[in-house]
Amino acid sequence: MDWGSVEHKELFCKFFIETHKPFTPEELPWPDLDDATIEKLTKFPIWDYAVHTERQVFNKLTAYSAEEDDPLLKEALALQAYEEGRHADILKYFLNRYNIPLNELPDKALPDNLEWCFMSTGAGECIDSFFAFGFLEISKASNDYPIELIEVMEPIVQEEARHILFIQNWLLYQRQKRPYLLQGAHFLMTMWAFWSAGWSRLVELKNLGGSAFTIQAREHENSSMSSKDFIDLCQRENKRRLAPYDSRLARPKLIPRIMSGASFFL
Ligand SMILES: [Fe+2]
Ligand SMILES: [Fe+2]
Repeated sequence: MDWGSVEHKELFCKFFIETHKPFTPEELPWPDLDDATIEKLTKFPIWDYAVHTERQVFNKLTAYSAEEDDPLLKEALALQAYEEGRHADILKYFLNRYNIPLNELPDKALPDNLEWCFMSTGAGECIDSFFAFGFLEISKASNDYPIELIEVMEPIVQEEARHILFIQNWLLYQRQKRPYLLQGAHFLMTMWAFWSAGWSRLVELKNLGGSAFTIQAREHENSSMSSKDFIDLCQRENKRRLAPYDSRLARPKLIPRIMSGASFFL
């Protein structure tokens, strides 16, 4: 594959559009839950942040897709925005259905540079998804929550796998279509996006607030799994979740590589 070519753009945009699944939150097979489970879910500290984060990504992507000139990229970006908005709607529907209180946080103003904004949001998604994939497997193996409820969340998680695959290819496309001398600057910007997204999550994790909700969620589960085993599980889940899609697409490498480096020292 010639990264940055029209062929590459068509491959990653069409993969994204063709694998979209149409459904509404109400159509998902929501199970009946007992009071003890609902009480446990109510104590989960992430809901306000989770809804807020999905909503913010919807706002950012909607604005960015509106300013994109290329019709195919525009369609794919708008579809990703729609899916993020649907994530927020699914979470809100879930909370409402089980009478779990939600404190809606106000939308933040959008930054001026929307391309940079998508880059840094995308970097954050790559980090969050890496851990979320492992976390979901831990939840399935433990008997803390009914498996039917975890299965309802499955489409959201798989959509995030499609998102990070799209983002990885979009980053590569944007870099490789630039003149050679500007590719280095784009690479450094990408690294900065990952560094700042990673750093902000570490700070938020330390303060136990903010959008590092997948990492917090794992902490909350009190899993007996060691950190090394958890990272190994995340690596396997990342490969498995991305496996069904066209093998010509570039796979996200940075976070899996950093985490296998970290795993070596654990
Ligand atoms: Fe999302
Ligand atoms: Fe996403």
